[in-house]
Amino acid sequence: MSAPQLKIKDFGVSIEGKEILKNFSLDIKGGEIHAIMGPNGTGKSTLASSLMGHPSYEVTAGSVELDGEDVLDMEVDERARAGLFLAMQYPSEISGVTTADFLRSAINANREEGDEISLMKFIRTLDEKMNVLEMDNSFSQRYLNEGFSGGEKKRNEILQMLMLQPRVCILDEIDSGLDIDALKVVSKGVNDLRSPDRAFLIITHYQRLLNYITPDFVHVMMQGRIVKSGGPELAQRLEAEGYDWIKQELGIKDETVGQEA
Ligand SMILES: Nc1ncnc2c1ncn2[C@@H]1O[C@H](COP(=O)(O)OP(=O)(O)OP(=O)(O)O)[C@@H](O)[C@H]1O
Ligand SMILES: [Mg+2]
Repeated sequence: MSAPQLKIKDFGVSIEGKEILKNFSLDIKGGEIHAIMGPNGTGKSTLASSLMGHPSYEVTAGSVELDGEDVLDMEVDERARAGLFLAMQYPSEISGVTTADFLRSAINANREEGDEISLMKFIRTLDEKMNVLEMDNSFSQRYLNEGFSGGEKKRNEILQMLMLQPRVCILDEIDSGLDIDALKVVSKGVNDLRSPDRAFLIITHYQRLLNYITPDFVHVMMQGRIVKSGGPELAQRLEAEGYDWIKQELGIKDETVGQEA
């Protein structure tokens, strides 16, 4: 594995004719943790989904490259194979597919034919990762996310990440709905994966998560693009003062997407 390099340049994305991301640019390298914060409706989840290739989003401008390869040209499964991973803000429930079956298929989809993970190795790894996340083994035999509590779904997203060992991990509000103990467990899962060969893009509303996962960079999104960047101290100021000072500083009246000023 080598250190990933994700380059997002002047990215523009629309949905149903409505422009959501506009001139979004960000470079992410292996070893780095970038946190993205920002008020509701400023395009954070749109960024996450469109990087993964969600079919509802139409790319209207710009480029996204991973290790020099054009990501926008890849199908969703190719993006996963290239090492992109998204833990969703609202994970879907899939009835009829157990969590274990889903994870095994996802792992094998990222491997060459004939090089599938052995059942023994899969079970051993699954046990180990579920232990790290303090998840009860019975979850692996339940249908994917069906009837899972909000916090259990989030833990399950992190389980996927630990099993797949992706190179670029995008986590969309992984902390929302987690109790304090779960927050610590999930943060430990993320910190265990921290490596020079891996990068993280962590979307969150709360500085609290960043007490457990120290970011290298904190970015603020408004109007579908990054309007301010800094270090962990920026998240602390946002927690204390909210977003008004940034809007004043930059002369932004309405921070939601589709606004001109
Ligand atoms: N399918 C859709 N149809 C119409 N508008 C959409 C659709 N998906 C997203 N939007 C709009 O795009 C804007 C950005 O949404 P997005 O989910 O990216 O925001 P967000 O920054 O993740 O917000 P939050 O912090 O609340 O999760 C919102 O105004 C939203 O209503
Ligand atoms: Mg969102």
